[in-house]
Amino acid sequence: MSDKEIDQPTGVETTGHEWDGIKELNNPLPRWWLIILWISIVWSVVYWILMPSWPGISGHFAGIRGHSDRENVAIAISALETERSAQMQQLKSVSSINDIESDPQLLQFVLEAGESMFGDNCATCHGAGGQGFKGYPALVDDAWLWGGTLDNISKTLHHGIRSTHPESRLSVMQAYGELGVFNGDQINDMVEYVVNLSGRDANADAVARATPLYQQQCVSCHGVDGTGDQTQGAPNLTDAIWLYGGERSEIYETIKNGREGVMPHWTDRLTDEQITALAVYVHSLGGGE
Ligand code: HEC
Ligand code: HEC
Repeated sequence: MSDKEIDQPTGVETTGHEWDGIKELNNPLPRWWLIILWISIVWSVVYWILMPSWPGISGHFAGIRGHSDRENVAIAISALETERSAQMQQLKSVSSINDIESDPQLLQFVLEAGESMFGDNCATCHGAGGQGFKGYPALVDDAWLWGGTLDNISKTLHHGIRSTHPESRLSVMQAYGELGVFNGDQINDMVEYVVNLSGRDANADAVARATPLYQQQCVSCHGVDGTGDQTQGAPNLTDAIWLYGGERSEIYETIKNGREGVMPHWTDRLTDEQITALAVYVHSLGGGE
């Protein structure tokens, strides 16, 4: 083309492209770059032939190596199941969950399986190590809403708490303010009463005013001394452990609006053996009774 020319200072031919007087030199591509380009082209052809690649009308070309990630996962899972089946079988036949803890080999298997299932199913709500969040109880401490024996934990997992299971654990911390049982002043008095129960400094007059109200309204679940009742999931109010927070504003919120934490039931999603393994794992987290 006529507008190609030799650039004077460098002696290199131009491409003929020009922008506002700036001309492009037609330098060759670097050799190393070209070599890599050609290698990658050759490699991609080899790859198309070996591995699943081109789409077709009814499926895709599978590649002569017949590689399939889907099949590999299925093989790995079934290998794991075979490896675990003997122990899962053993779990099915234990007469009481308590027996597991006296069989070191089975116990180790159960704890490992339990830990991985906990990560998959429970950690989103209870935290990776079971440390809990506001509204989602810690499973590592000694404070239990519904009881920390193996049987109680197992029942909680099977049936859930305020779940859709017909045998779900049920109870209500009702909304004393919203339902009009207490007015704002009475709630404030009751907050002082709860603060006092937990061993902190509280307004003595308010505590005195709230005492008859506590006896009328709260004793049936939280007990005369405030230590709670595990058959009703009513928390101990005398310890420093709070499910919904121990600040006055948080306690106010609890009494005014009520609380109804929901724990799903697992019978639809996990087998009995898996639930047993999880119960033993949770029991082992430190706070098992
Ligand atoms: C959607 C959130 C959620 C998931 C997922 C969940 N939980 Fe819970 N769990 C809760 C809540 C909320 C409570 C407390 C209910 C209440 O207020 O009584 C609870 C309570 C419990 C309790 C009773 C604690 C006590 O103090 O008595 C145990 C045990 C427990 N969960 C174990 C598990 C295990 C094991 C899994 C996994 C299989 C799991 N949870 C999955 C929300 C969840
Ligand atoms: C019918 C049983 C029942 C009665 C009556 C009851 N509670 Fe509760 N209370 C519960 C339950 C159950 C919970 C836990 C709710 C949950 O887990 O979601 C609870 C939770 C609480 C909490 C939150 C504790 C924490 O760890 O965050 C406070 C505070 C509380 N109740 C105070 C009271 C006071 C004050 C009264 C009386 C006015 C009262 N409750 C009456 C069942 C009851």
